[in-house]
Amino acid sequence: MSRRHHLEQLREFAPLILPSLLLCDFSDLRSEIKRLEQAGVRSLHLDIMDGHFVPNFTYGLPIVAAIRKLTELPLDVHLMISSPENWVQSFADAGADLLTIHAEASTSPQDVLEKIHKLDVAAGVAINPATPLAAIEDCYDLADLVLIMSVPAGFGGQSFDDIALEKISTLRAKLGPNVLIEVDGGVNSSTISRCAQAGAELFVVGSAIFNNEEYGPVVSELAQLASSV
Ligand code: DX5
Ligand code: ZN
Repeated sequence: MSRRHHLEQLREFAPLILPSLLLCDFSDLRSEIKRLEQAGVRSLHLDIMDGHFVPNFTYGLPIVAAIRKLTELPLDVHLMISSPENWVQSFADAGADLLTIHAEASTSPQDVLEKIHKLDVAAGVAINPATPLAAIEDCYDLADLVLIMSVPAGFGGQSFDDIALEKISTLRAKLGPNVLIEVDGGVNSSTISRCAQAGAELFVVGSAIFNNEEYGPVVSELAQLASSV
C-alpha cells in the first residue's frame, strides 16, 4: 500500500497507542501479535538498534519481514542506527510502512527523508531529549511525522523526561496539521495525558503494556486518557 494510504490510516486512528515490540516475548511472536490485535492495537512500533548509534542491539530485517507476514497492521519502524540512508531500502522491502530515522544519525536527514519518500513509504525524523528542535527545522517540509524522544534512545523502561512536552507544544504550533507528532519513552498512564495535551497524536508504549499479563485493559486505559484532553 502507498505512503498516502498509510498516513491516512494513522491520521484516522489518532490518537493512537503503538506498542513497542522490545519487551514482548520473541519466542512466541505470533501469539504476542494476536494478543495485541485483540487488545485493539492499530499499528506496531518496531525498535531497530545497531549497537553503534545506541549502546544496545535489538533485531533487524528478518524479524521485520517475519512480523510483516504475521499482521496487516501498519509497521512503524524506528531506526536507531547509524547511516540510515544505507538501510532504508532494505527496511522498506522487509515491509515497513513508516520509517523514522534519527536526525543525530545522519549528516543530511533531509536527503534520507527524500529517499524514503521515493520508496513510497512514510518518513519520520526523530530527536533525542538532548537534541534541540533547531536540528530538524530543515526537515519540517519533508517529514510526515516527527518523533520526540522522551528518553534517550536505546532502552525500554526509562523515566519520561519533561523536556519532550515543551518540544511537542512548540512543534504543534509550528507544523501544519498534516505532520504527525509521535512521542516515545516512558509513556504510561501517568505521563500520557500531558503528552496528548501538548499535541502528540501517536504514543509509543513499551513497558507500560508488556509488564501486564493482559494487554486489553491497559491499551484501552491509555487510549482513553489520550483522547480525553
Ligand atoms: C527506546 C525505544 C522505545 C522503548 C519504549 O529507545 O525507542 O520505543 O522501547 O519503551 P518504554 O515505554 O518502556 O519507555
Ligand atoms: Zn521506539
